[in-house]
Amino acid sequence: MSLLEIADYRLAFDTFDGTHHVLDGIDLALDAGETLGIVGETGCGKSVLAKSLLRLNECPPARVVSGAIRFKDQDLLTLDARAMRSLRGRAIAMVFQDPASFLNPVLGIGAQMTDAICGQDGAQPGGRRRSRREAARMAAELLASVGLPEPERILASYPHQLSGGMRQRVLIAMALAGKPALLVADEPTTALDVTVQAQVLALISDLVRSRGLALILISHDLGVISAACARVAVMYAGTIVEEAPTQALLAAPYHPYARGLIGAVPDLDRPGSRPRGIPGSIPSLLFPPSGCRFHPRCPRASGRCGVEKPLLRGIAPGRRVACHHPEGA
Ligand SMILES: Nc1ncnc2c1ncn2[C@@H]1O[C@H](COP(=O)(O)OP(=O)(O)OP(=O)(O)O)[C@@H](O)[C@H]1O
Ligand code: SF4
Ligand SMILES: [Mg+2]
Repeated sequence: MSLLEIADYRLAFDTFDGTHHVLDGIDLALDAGETLGIVGETGCGKSVLAKSLLRLNECPPARVVSGAIRFKDQDLLTLDARAMRSLRGRAIAMVFQDPASFLNPVLGIGAQMTDAICGQDGAQPGGRRRSRREAARMAAELLASVGLPEPERILASYPHQLSGGMRQRVLIAMALAGKPALLVADEPTTALDVTVQAQVLALISDLVRSRGLALILISHDLGVISAACARVAVMYAGTIVEEAPTQALLAAPYHPYARGLIGAVPDLDRPGSRPRGIPGSIPSLLFPPSGCRFHPRCPRASGRCGVEKPLLRGIAPGRRVACHHPEGA
């Protein structure tokens, strides 16, 4: 049995404008210790999907239309609120894009970390509550494990006294406090400059390896995904359009959107070459295109594509694609 299984998951947002069909039949599975990247243009539903794993989309306006999300043997969509609280951080932990907005600016790092550690104890039914002193010792160990020198000084600091990269390391340390089996990192390096980005990615990869964590890494940047994930799922307008081992996808994508995404990355080995963009723009999820949601932008679209939704199907070992006319098939 997989660690995480998402089956035909549909989620909509009911707003004053009407219903936004944001996730449209997501199917994904992840084993313990596996690394999966989720890549796609802005607004395609990556964060909404990530938040769905911890039921963090506010309902309403969010509404689960259908499907199931299972973690080990638990159905995350029907767990009661207490069981869900206990799962957050202890089974599945999340790291978000902007570290500054997830740290309280008027509380010291030490207080925030010990609160998080003691909160994990409180969420565990019948679990032993650690003293503040024990929690502070554990906080220092966690900071050291994410490569922050002088943990005692960091614990005595306020968020504004740390750099963006240091704040992200603090949040990663806090995410590890509950010893989760799955780490979900939503654009964890987007707000950082490129050298710090590389360091934080290397840190995440090291932690995943040394602690045997499963990882879902969300990014709009294929380079980031390929640095940390063995497998990748490409999202377009609320659907998974292709899933493959990362290197296989980069070498030969089947889906025209995946091909477009790879072609849009500048090739630094060929300075004269110009990246190709994907013509058109992402569709409205209020009135998504019929059939294949990519058809208005697709160079391979046929009449069938406008009426019949392509299903995600196996096309080669370890590879799935949702396309009526895949490239090279
Ligand atoms: N609370 C909400 N109410 C209505 N629509 C929402 C809400 N939250 C998200 N959406 C819509 O869901 C869609 C997906 O948003 P999401 O944040 O998941 O995109 P994303 O792929 O993470 O983009 P980015 O790369 O910019 O982070 C967007 O069209 C967004 O407008
Ligand atoms: S199903 Fe048709 S429109 Fe959609 S990606 Fe494939 S060829 Fe293009
Ligand atoms: Mg997002």
